[in-house]
Amino acid sequence: MRRLVCILAAVAVWMTGVSSIQAAPNDAYPLAQIEVDNSMAARQRGAVIAIETCMMCHGFKYLRYQDLLDIGMSAEDVDNYRGDNGLLDRLESMTPIEVRKESYGKVPPDLTLMTIARKHGPEYVYTLLTSYYLDPEENEANHLFPGIRMPDAMGYSFTEPGSTERAEVERNVSDLVSFMVWASDPNAETRKTIGVWVILYLIVLTTLLYLVKRKIWRRVEKLKIENGTVKRP
Ligand code: HEC
Repeated sequence: MRRLVCILAAVAVWMTGVSSIQAAPNDAYPLAQIEVDNSMAARQRGAVIAIETCMMCHGFKYLRYQDLLDIGMSAEDVDNYRGDNGLLDRLESMTPIEVRKESYGKVPPDLTLMTIARKHGPEYVYTLLTSYYLDPEENEANHLFPGIRMPDAMGYSFTEPGSTERAEVERNVSDLVSFMVWASDPNAETRKTIGVWVILYLIVLTTLLYLVKRKIWRRVEKLKIENGTVKRP
């Protein structure tokens, strides 16, 4: 009897192990190769999708609404999207955390740093959203992340391969990735520009200091020292 209990317990542990293994990304699934469009227009289009679709369940909590001005969004649009939120409020999910936990069994992760957090982040996110399909029972499933608890938010699985609708979903996902790459490091471009100016500044400063040094030493070399006192030539 005790042995039977032990075996049953072992099977239960094995089954929980299996179910948690199933709900994980499939590392062997090939990621799509994409070019991230770093234009302001792409980021803005992506921001709108992120706010209107992804933020139903996810937050971008390391961004504030006013940061959207940096991708060229007009103050009027930012006001529209933020609703009752202040300009300095963070981009939190529209749905309360308990409701999300209740609905999906876990809180959907914050997306601000997602393209850095996952290996090959931009390709990973793009592939994840374009890997949904309908299984023979017409249930949503995902090739890259079998067992994922996220529904097909972009509606990819409802489009036919090769259709204009599918091409549009792919374009939208690509814009979304542009926005998410920016969101994960909003100061990347400023940092690069500042870096170039700092280097130029250091080159100019070094040249000036060298010239000053030469001038001073030329005068020092001309001085004559006799019996411990300096004689001007
Ligand atoms: C209806 C709720 C819902 C919506 C809308 C939604 N997600 Fe999710 N998302 C989830 C849940 C739940 C998870 C956790 C899935 C899991 O671990 O099984 C998740 C997980 C993720 C992950 C992490 C996957 C991983 O590797 O762990 C990414 C990336 C993601 N979502 C991106 C998005 C993007 C981009 C959008 C907007 C197009 C979006 N989601 C819209 C519910 C949602």
